[in-house]
Amino acid sequence: MKIVFSKPAVPATGVYVVFALNGNKLLQSGEKLDKAAKGALAGALKSANFKAKRGEILDVYGLAGHPGRIAVVGLGGADELTEQNSEGLGGSIIAKFLTSGEKTLTLALDDVPGAKVSADTLAARIAYGIQLRSYRFDRYRTKESADKKPSVAKVVIGTAASTKADHAYASLSSVADAVRFARDLVSEPGNVLHPESYAREIKKLAKLGLKIEVLGERDMQTLGMGALLGVGQGSAKESQLVIMQWNGLKGSKTPPVAFIGKGVTFDSGGISLKPGAGMEEMKFDMAGSAAVVGLMQSLATRKAKVNAVGVVALVENMPSHDAQRPGDIVKSMSGQTIEVHNTDAEGRLILADALWYTQNRFKPKFMIDLATLTGAILIALGQEHAGIFSNNDELAERLTKAGVAENEAVWRLPLSEAHDKAIDSTIADMKNISGSRNAGSIVGAQFLQRFVNNVPWVHIDIAGTAWIYKDKATCPSGATGYGVRLLDRLVADYYEDK
Ligand code: BES
Ligand code: MN
Ligand code: ZN
Repeated sequence: MKIVFSKPAVPATGVYVVFALNGNKLLQSGEKLDKAAKGALAGALKSANFKAKRGEILDVYGLAGHPGRIAVVGLGGADELTEQNSEGLGGSIIAKFLTSGEKTLTLALDDVPGAKVSADTLAARIAYGIQLRSYRFDRYRTKESADKKPSVAKVVIGTAASTKADHAYASLSSVADAVRFARDLVSEPGNVLHPESYAREIKKLAKLGLKIEVLGERDMQTLGMGALLGVGQGSAKESQLVIMQWNGLKGSKTPPVAFIGKGVTFDSGGISLKPGAGMEEMKFDMAGSAAVVGLMQSLATRKAKVNAVGVVALVENMPSHDAQRPGDIVKSMSGQTIEVHNTDAEGRLILADALWYTQNRFKPKFMIDLATLTGAILIALGQEHAGIFSNNDELAERLTKAGVAENEAVWRLPLSEAHDKAIDSTIADMKNISGSRNAGSIVGAQFLQRFVNNVPWVHIDIAGTAWIYKDKATCPSGATGYGVRLLDRLVADYYEDK
């Protein structure tokens, strides 16, 4: 879909979208239509009991003086408009018309008297919302009828601040593309996206100027990554560790910021097999890695002035005659040994080696890992917040602020020694589960912390936010691409040279 910004003008065809504030106060363009129609537009709003609440939409046809279709969109109160909630406006508009048969939408985004958000920001964020909400994962539908397919090919956003809006949208559009890419990766089924095909897909990003390396099982054997390799052992596909580097600070040796992602392309649970009902969802157990890949794409596309590395551990967790057994003891790259009590607690095992490798090789400024690590995080926080765990207050606070700014909220949960003790093993350095149902997400985080030393670190448990079952304003149900926006914003606000 093409989105362009231009000076406000009445379109000859398609849907003409005008806006109204609380109390049905039409903005300039709507006012004009209403005058030409001798008050018929205001009359229509009234008889439809329209209130101009934010995101409320009324379709109007056959208005005198305007032959085409008109939509009036409510903005709510002018002073309540924010950078964050303007996205939802774009989302609501496109959700209404995406498959309506209409090919173009022309928005008349006039000056909003009393708004705190600037005209260019409002326009750019509406465009962002449109791009995010119009996502579809369609590539396996062969029989969809024409009337169910997206019809809107172009959206024209008319605003006096069109040049500035266009500029503001340039980087947002890179982020939106990256979110859409991450959603694609997460939506792909396990037979299509497995460690080998996934690594090949990531390699293609080299064309953006990212440096990409792929380590296979032999390389990881040499490095001593027994924890990661044990998880992939039962799979017919070769486990992979993919390292992506973006050096946006040319010629500088500044330590990079580092992002590490769990990429279990399918989590059957292994020998500790999961129940059959709902197991198909475990194709999304690589969402943490997808967020990292999306972030790296976004940083490269918008040429961010930062040094960053992304490391993703790609494995498939399968039962087989070669699979890891409960009770097995593996040696991680750190040298620490792990007794595997449950083969379904596999995310922490692969991250243990990925975290160790990342700090060892890159001496990063900080490490942030993202993982669909525990079902328990859904019980604790639901789907509105990801859980974060950290050894560094400043980093945790910055991430929290970035989450608010980008509508990807996080909530910090505690680490504590008592939960660390719970994973001591009687015959190895540690075990991979605690053996109690208590505080499952914290226990997972405690396990990871044993592999980060004193590097500033945040673990983000995205098991609740990576996949949704109901449409949201800026995301249709399914893969959310959660994390791309959050991390891009963190980097942009705190770690990028201006
Ligand atoms: N991938 C799962 C966690 C998960 C659950 C992600 C639901 C998304 C939705 C993870 O590998 C897992 O199986 N965790 C276990 C840990 C337990 C064995 C300590 C869990 O949450 O039950
Ligand atoms: Mn598991
Ligand atoms: Zn898993």
